[in-house]
Amino acid sequence: MKTAIRYYSKFGHSAKMAEVVGEVAGVKPASVDTPLTGEVDILFIGAGVFLGTVNGRIKEFARSLDPKKVKKVVLFGSSALIKSPVPQMRTIFEEFGFNVAAESFTCRGAMGPVHSGHPDANDLQDLREFTKTICL
Ligand SMILES: Cc1cc2nc3c(=O)[nH]c(=O)nc-3n(C[C@H](O)[C@H](O)[C@H](O)COP(=O)(O)O)c2cc1C
Repeated sequence: MKTAIRYYSKFGHSAKMAEVVGEVAGVKPASVDTPLTGEVDILFIGAGVFLGTVNGRIKEFARSLDPKKVKKVVLFGSSALIKSPVPQMRTIFEEFGFNVAAESFTCRGAMGPVHSGHPDANDLQDLREFTKTICL
């Protein structure tokens, strides 16, 4: 099974989360600045939220891909105020015609003192367990 991991991370949180996904999946994660080539079975996509929205680079990345070459997209992310960045990402990828897994992962992400320290070790452990359910 071929797996890839991409993220956009303004404050380093999604990058840290992507490392955990990568440890379980046995793949090195990269930011959305790294193009995806070839076909993949699972594409993990992660992002946080800034001023209420997921960064536009996620949409640009989705546009750069051929949905026929990606069997399944699995979304993960973190946020401080809104419930999750996942619905925004789901809309983007579904609009481009991707098969987006019903399962996704969200945890809290710090905004200054709000949810300070998140994603923390427990969040990352939860993500590890989630990734196992997808990959193993
Ligand atoms: C300056 C700043 C602005 C933020 N704005 C929002 C926001 O509008 N809504 C929200 O839910 N979370 C907000 N957050 C929380 C981030 O989404 C959270 O830290 C997330 O983990 C960032 O992920 P990233 O580092 O991968 O981009 C903000 C955080 C910071 C530091």
